[in-house]
Amino acid sequence: MAIGKDSNVLVIGGSSGIGFATAALAAQAGAAVTIASRSPERLKMAAASLPTGVRAKGLDVTDADVVERFFAVSGEWDHVILSGASTKHGPVQSFPLHDARAAMESKFWGAYHVGRSASIRAGGSLTFVSGVYSIRPNLQAVLQGAINAALEALARGLALELAPVRVNTVSPSLTKTPLWDKLDRATRDQMYREKATQLPARRVGEAEDVAAAILLLAGNPFITGSTLLIDGGDALV
Ligand SMILES: NC(=O)c1ccc[n+]([C@@H]2O[C@H](COP(=O)([O-])OP(=O)(O)OC[C@H]3O[C@@H](n4cnc5c(N)ncnc54)[C@H](OP(=O)(O)O)[C@@H]3O)[C@@H](O)[C@H]2O)c1
Repeated sequence: MAIGKDSNVLVIGGSSGIGFATAALAAQAGAAVTIASRSPERLKMAAASLPTGVRAKGLDVTDADVVERFFAVSGEWDHVILSGASTKHGPVQSFPLHDARAAMESKFWGAYHVGRSASIRAGGSLTFVSGVYSIRPNLQAVLQGAINAALEALARGLALELAPVRVNTVSPSLTKTPLWDKLDRATRDQMYREKATQLPARRVGEAEDVAAAILLLAGNPFITGSTLLIDGGDALV
């Protein structure tokens, strides 16, 4: 079931970054798109920049009851994409345990809640966004790698449990999104430049690169249980 004018697509995390680019691409393909995330202001701004007709709904994936109620009233979707997560990171030995647990709560348990409650048509798809640290640990983000690995394993298991709904994961490397707006501009630009010189692709990712991969996984009827690296070769170096 390709993403096109007959499909009903939910992008959780669609108010920013990878989710926003995915919502834009799906809407351009003619799909009926709903974006969902926590902040009403961010949703409103995002919806105003997306094609007319894109709907916006409040949703916090960390609350299992809220997620259950959301899907109970939303009815069946053709494709659900989850890019919404909020995680801090730092070295295991100095990172506050509270923040570490909150990161797992957001990115892993958020996905678990969605997998548990989402109502998706047979042949439709559920797509998660993990990250290359799952297979290439980063000294500053060991926990992030563990969360991403758990997410990828969850997707493979759900591909069996939810069949014939297909469940996949895209795994990006550093991608230019508002996630990095917390850094000042000079630091951010330097990070992008340094990463670009390291990567075989000689550039860092754009949200649109990841969005294109998400639409590929969601739309191909023979892909399930896959993790697709969108990392410019990061896992190789
Ligand atoms: N950008 C990168 O370099 C990179 C690299 C590898 C992996 N990733 C992963 O890609 C995913 C998307 O990242 P991004 O760069 O697109 O980030 P982003 O631009 O910060 O967007 C995150 C989106 O998630 C929503 N969100 C956060 N917590 C949520 C929750 N509890 N429930 C529902 N929505 C929530 C945010 O909206 P609200 O705040 O309004 O809820 C926002 O729409 C994340 O899982 C991230 O770890 C990113």
